[in-house]
Amino acid sequence: MRVPADVLELAHAACELTVLTGAGMSAESGLATFRDAQTGLWANQDPASLATPEAWEADPARVWAWYRWRMTLMTRAQPNAGHRALAEWSEVGDAHLWIVTQNVDDLHERAGSDVLAHLHGSIFALRCSRCGQDADAVGEPLTEPVERLDPPVCVHCGGLVRPGIVWFGEALPQDALERAEAATLSADLVLVIGTSGIVYPAAGLPIMAHHRGVPVVEINPEETDLSDIATATWRVPAGEALPALLTALRENTA
Ligand code: APR
Repeated sequence: MRVPADVLELAHAACELTVLTGAGMSAESGLATFRDAQTGLWANQDPASLATPEAWEADPARVWAWYRWRMTLMTRAQPNAGHRALAEWSEVGDAHLWIVTQNVDDLHERAGSDVLAHLHGSIFALRCSRCGQDADAVGEPLTEPVERLDPPVCVHCGGLVRPGIVWFGEALPQDALERAEAATLSADLVLVIGTSGIVYPAAGLPIMAHHRGVPVVEINPEETDLSDIATATWRVPAGEALPALLTALRENTA
């Protein structure tokens, strides 16, 4: 696959890259995105009934069942060629990649990347919804999705255990956001991969870079809310684009 000249030139010149990834990064691992037509999770479920503190308060068994199945799918999923290319990129030349992800799966880590920030938390980082203490009991594995499932109970206080992710209306982990902002402010290139760019403050990071005159490259088969501020766009799936880009960089560096 030919890498667009502008994308290759920007990638080749970069030393400190901040990479913002979204659900599209894991799409080729078989995990549904949120807003893709037909297949998106929010195309088939109302996020207000699953991904808000109010939904949890109203019906924790329904919310837990849904996330427990997503946890099962994420455990079964494997990192794709795009995850692996990002992990290997740091070995090419003197580039350093700071991975900032909106994804709650662990596919970047399992591909070998260090993740600077999980802006929306991690589905595997369970905690008590009452005392906030970490929890690790996820209960019996699921072989198929279920409508309702009682959440585990906190061993410390008896509260209900929830997934450690940021629901709509909740604040992002401040330390993760600060690390992501610092990396964006010191980047000489921002790569935006597989995100629709409509959820803030994550979507604000590439915009912050753009306002500082830092080039932004978008890798996404579709146009997004961030396309207007992209210096270069590549309308290709991440699992195809990133390995091709890494190969071209290796040839340029050889
Ligand atoms: N490669 C690259 N991009 C892809 C691929 C792919 N193979 N497949 C789909 N995409 C793109 C889609 O075109 C879309 O622009 O990925 C993007 C996915 O957008 P969303 O589904 O909105 O996911 P995301 O941007 O990560 O959502 C942000 O919203 O619901 C919240 O907390 C949730 O973190 C999530 C946030």
